[in-house]
Amino acid sequence: MRVLLAGGAGYVGTHTAISLLEAGHEPVMLDDLSNTSSVVIDRIAEITGARVPLVVGDAADDEVVEGAFDAHGPFDAIVHFAAYKAVGESVAQPLSYYANNLDTTYALLRVGLVRGIRSFVFSSTGTVYSDPADLPFTEEATRNLVALSNPYSKSKLMNEQVLTDVQAAHPELNVTLLRYFNPVGAHASGLVGEDPKGTPNNLMPFVARVAVGALDEVGIFGDDYDTPDGTGQRDYIHVVDLAEGHVKALENAAPGTTAYNLGTGNPVSVRELVASFERAVGRELPKSVKPRRAGDLAATYCTPAKAEAELGWRATRTIDDMTRDVWNWQQKNPGGYEG
Ligand code: UFG
Repeated sequence: MRVLLAGGAGYVGTHTAISLLEAGHEPVMLDDLSNTSSVVIDRIAEITGARVPLVVGDAADDEVVEGAFDAHGPFDAIVHFAAYKAVGESVAQPLSYYANNLDTTYALLRVGLVRGIRSFVFSSTGTVYSDPADLPFTEEATRNLVALSNPYSKSKLMNEQVLTDVQAAHPELNVTLLRYFNPVGAHASGLVGEDPKGTPNNLMPFVARVAVGALDEVGIFGDDYDTPDGTGQRDYIHVVDLAEGHVKALENAAPGTTAYNLGTGNPVSVRELVASFERAVGRELPKSVKPRRAGDLAATYCTPAKAEAELGWRATRTIDDMTRDVWNWQQKNPGGYEG
């Protein structure tokens, strides 16, 4: 299958390109490189022996998308990873989040439909679920736009609605919505991984920077939640498991619009994740308890049973696999791809 990966040079897209190549498919990347580096192409070649074609440009621009089809098409499918994804930033810059995260979808759909793609796979998020009473979240759990706490999550849910309506008007198109839980980890080679610009907002890359001495200490955002150890619980999923979920979603695309949770189903607390990282590093890391972070839920985790039943996919990597692979990546690339 020939697949256009929009935003494909980012964290999840890069790992998905590797998994697609390993499964015998032909990925092509379209990326503006605003939050990644073209070095990923060399790294993927080191791992797989294949050079993934990269079109540098904005996936919200119809002419750019058409150019990718002209140069590298036809494509059987588009996977749409191209989005802004920082929750806090989205509160400060709602307009750029709504514009970018929706305009990319519009352009990819406009061009993709004319060019006859069969499937469209969308990077959605477990943060579209709005009611903690529904834990563990199934795909049917409440998704109430006005109850969501930030424009990032709202833009993802709005995208899901746009895709559902477009699919209904174009029954020949198969749409798959992949709701990611908390992607962490890195390729086992240590050659590709997460490379956030500036100080990371998310727990795993933050802990990794503390471990290499680039940051002073891990702040634990609240230890008085109603959870077993008082710290927030998340459904961390190894990015390679997540990447393999995309391959299965593409290979099993079905008529209509179908949503899948991609998570492990296992809630892991902040303290448990930090303890796992300490095992990987072989020493304790400096840490202290800080106030709760605004907008955080005590716990979010899913039931991934639908993806297993319908896609034949299940996450297999453990939390210790995730922290080991992040530590390996961080040690080999202390300054990221261009460091
Ligand atoms: N946390 C800390 N200290 C930190 C950072 C985070 O204690 O320095 C805690 C948070 O309070 C939370 C947990 O670690 O309990 C996870 O926080 P992250 O920021 O790593 O992840 P979130 O669950 O807040 O959100 C992330 C991404 C979103 C994405 C979501 C689901 O930021 O973009 O996962 O995929 F939508």
